[in-house]
Amino acid sequence: MCGIVGYAGGNDKNIVDDSDRALVVALNGLTRLEYRGYDSAGIALCTRPSNILDDDSASKSYLQVRKKAGRLKNLIDEIETHPLLPAQTSIGHTRWATHGEPTDFNAHPHISNDLRVALIHNGIIENASKLRQALEERGVHFTSVTDTEVVVHLLREELRFVEDDDNLRKKTKYPLTHAMQRVVKQLNGTFTLLAVDASFSDVIVGAKHDSPLVVGLGDGENFFGSDVVAFIEYTSNAIEIQQDQIVTLTSNDVVITDFDGNLSTGKHFTVDWDVSAATKSGYKTFMEKEIREEPKAVADTLLGRFDETTGCIKLDKVPHDVNAFEERLRTINKVIIVACGTAAYAGLVARYAIEHWCRIPVEVELAHEFRYRDPIVNSETLVVSISQSGETMDTLMAQRYASEQGAQTISICNTKGASIVREADGVLYTRAGLEVSVASTKAFVSQITAAYLLGLYLASIRGNKYTDEVLEIVDDLCEVPDKIQELVDQFESISNLAHGLRDIKSVLFLGRNIGYPVALEGALKLKELAYIHAEGFAAGELKHGPIALIDANMPVFVILPSLSRPQLHAKVISNIQEIKARGAQVFTIADAQDIQAHEHATFTIDRPIVPSLLTPLLDIVPLQIFAYALATSKGLDVDKPRNLAKSVTVE
Ligand code: F6R
Repeated sequence: MCGIVGYAGGNDKNIVDDSDRALVVALNGLTRLEYRGYDSAGIALCTRPSNILDDDSASKSYLQVRKKAGRLKNLIDEIETHPLLPAQTSIGHTRWATHGEPTDFNAHPHISNDLRVALIHNGIIENASKLRQALEERGVHFTSVTDTEVVVHLLREELRFVEDDDNLRKKTKYPLTHAMQRVVKQLNGTFTLLAVDASFSDVIVGAKHDSPLVVGLGDGENFFGSDVVAFIEYTSNAIEIQQDQIVTLTSNDVVITDFDGNLSTGKHFTVDWDVSAATKSGYKTFMEKEIREEPKAVADTLLGRFDETTGCIKLDKVPHDVNAFEERLRTINKVIIVACGTAAYAGLVARYAIEHWCRIPVEVELAHEFRYRDPIVNSETLVVSISQSGETMDTLMAQRYASEQGAQTISICNTKGASIVREADGVLYTRAGLEVSVASTKAFVSQITAAYLLGLYLASIRGNKYTDEVLEIVDDLCEVPDKIQELVDQFESISNLAHGLRDIKSVLFLGRNIGYPVALEGALKLKELAYIHAEGFAAGELKHGPIALIDANMPVFVILPSLSRPQLHAKVISNIQEIKARGAQVFTIADAQDIQAHEHATFTIDRPIVPSLLTPLLDIVPLQIFAYALATSKGLDVDKPRNLAKSVTVE
């Protein structure tokens, strides 16, 4: 939610002073980050005096700012109309509006009244109104209604304070760093901040509290990003900034301190996504590319997980004292999965498998509901968070709450070094690769896969399954990627089905047992991409109410249980008959040999045969393709659906 990029360069002989690299890096970063928010975008460039072309330079501000409501394209057009001078540093922001409508004025960067300081922000400043009132009383003029603007004015005030104080001034090369330390202590809420000071055009100061920030290390140039995608094409050498740290970044230096100014360190890591991950690779949309990458996402998530010597599944991170960690997992009496949206549906799927394999109760809770209902969590609870981004604030807070209550925590996450990962006791990475399209697709199947691996890990260390039983299930899982491919190969025919239904107003999705969360996810995909009303129901619930909705205008998708579950299958076939009797068209996803499905449905998508517990990994694929194709046939932007953002870093 909100993309942030920063660039410091221009001191290296290879990066000449008059280049437009600061601008190019910021715009490239914003292009890649646009999936985090696309209500408005803006940049600020800091130019040293020698770059100011006319004689009157001494009286000019060296800060150049451009910002525009709407998509990034509007900002690029604005820059073409009003070009910018070469610069040493740049900061860029793409916004997902929280406080204030998406207008030019509310777009970031925000600027101090004297045009000396510019600032961008991701997060929410909860005490903004109080701070604003006090600033206004001190004569500060506001130009936006955002919470962020208070921070730039506070920063300007504190900068003045630092510069007026001989002692403080001597303590730091960059007064902005010291001013930032003083400002962050006045803020409540969540924030990543990047600020530049026109008087020191070679430096950017960043601060992080409960919102993501990473640094990229280049050769004679350095970068900031709200995630590594911001600088992925320039360097793979990165530093994870930790909670409550301030970073002073120049072209050849990165100084990290805590909020009190004590020197500190971040965690170095290598980015293993290459730049092709951030491009469409010839596809029209990221979403199509990402659906087509699902076989690989599952295969990669499974790769090398099974330790032949110990007979155990391996996690990516475990606490230092592994024995104590595993001993605690042996004594837990409940698993709670916390997640949001699609990730929560992956958790709902995983519940069936984990309970079946481990014989332990599993609850699945929307992360934003979890900590506000006084849940029963203690040292005998394992809390598993599932998150693609690893930055979803609701999930992070739920996991943090669980840790505070003494629970053991394990994160299933797709993003190395993300906040949720850092705070969890154990980690199992999904290896879906970079997911750019706002609607989650390949992350979903890799989350289910990883959650299944976690189930098998628990089953083996708790003695619920022998090694050969675990291996047998791993073998079945390893066959899934090829079977997903068979469904991906039906892209065209499923798209044709969707095109034929492009004028529908409402769709129902029904599933039973492990097919139920798939129905929920199928409905979510259609809502968020095609802006069509869609509901997912447990098929057994139909007769308790939803059947009233059914008529000839209400197509119904039914996910049929596998033929290996004959009782369940028969019940859902009866549901289909009830639906047909009320005039609705029925579309099914069913086992390839399911004759009854073919008999009753207007259109059936054949599911390659897998054990019943693995069917969700296949069944979701046609539903994703259906939502994708229906949305594109309506001319909608599937990669950036309205009102959404990829990484929801506010509560
Ligand atoms: C829907 C979607 C969202 C996310 C949810 C959690 O397509 O993408 O529902 O699944 O916002 O995000 P992560 O997994 O990043 O925690």
